[in-house]
Amino acid sequence: MGNMKLTLKIWRQNGPNDKGRMETYPVNDVSEDMSFLEMLDVLNDQLIREGKDPVAFDHDCREGICGMCSLFINGEPHGPGRGITTCQLHMRKFKDGDTIFIEPWRSAAFPVIKDLSTNRSAFDRIQAAGGFVSVNTSGNLVDGNAVPIPKDDADKAFDAATCIGCGACVATCPNGSAMLFVAAKVSQFALLPQGRPEAKRRVLAMVDQMDKEGFGNCSNTGACEVECPKGISLEHIARMNREYLAASVTKE
Ligand code: SF4
Ligand code: FES
Repeated sequence: MGNMKLTLKIWRQNGPNDKGRMETYPVNDVSEDMSFLEMLDVLNDQLIREGKDPVAFDHDCREGICGMCSLFINGEPHGPGRGITTCQLHMRKFKDGDTIFIEPWRSAAFPVIKDLSTNRSAFDRIQAAGGFVSVNTSGNLVDGNAVPIPKDDADKAFDAATCIGCGACVATCPNGSAMLFVAAKVSQFALLPQGRPEAKRRVLAMVDQMDKEGFGNCSNTGACEVECPKGISLEHIARMNREYLAASVTKE
């Protein structure tokens, strides 16, 4: 049931080298039960019918798992509401007649591909630098469940592992820092016995890659923790800093 009329102010940019500009689009017949992305689908249907270029935006699972959706809505990454991604945001958070500003993640390390879609492959390269556990495949594997792990450590590692790599932490940080993301990926392994053999190499390599990608420094504003849809705690940044210091001073 469509019952809301909205004015959308959307960032349009033809490519990484285009200057970009805000454009205004009215949309009618928006139901409060639609997700934010479904509302953009309505707009794009409308634009296609009018022979115009639809708005490019990232999405995949549309259920808060993949981390692809990434919109800065009315000045907040993933829009109003806490603990949700853009795809989990519903139009009932807005009201008839509202004007909504929609922009891409803004960070030098996440260049705009087109409109609202950004290149977040910097995160993939950080992950590839050390965000894994090497597995011995010679035939003498130990069942992961056979290694006892204190419940508290397992819970904290699991919390860190819920990071979906969306990049909202970078987008909201005044310094464009990726510390919360990298800290989650480092903590996920640092807290488990399976992650310890490669812990030093991992934290040094991932932080080094983060610096190479051009992310800013952390100045403890805490904005990342507030806007993170998965509630990743600043505690993980403190843990990563300890891991990094210990690895640096004992480096061979
Ligand atoms: S730490 Fe949170 S905001 Fe940052 S990438 Fe992971 S899930 Fe997204
Ligand atoms: S589209 Fe996958 S988390 Fe939003």
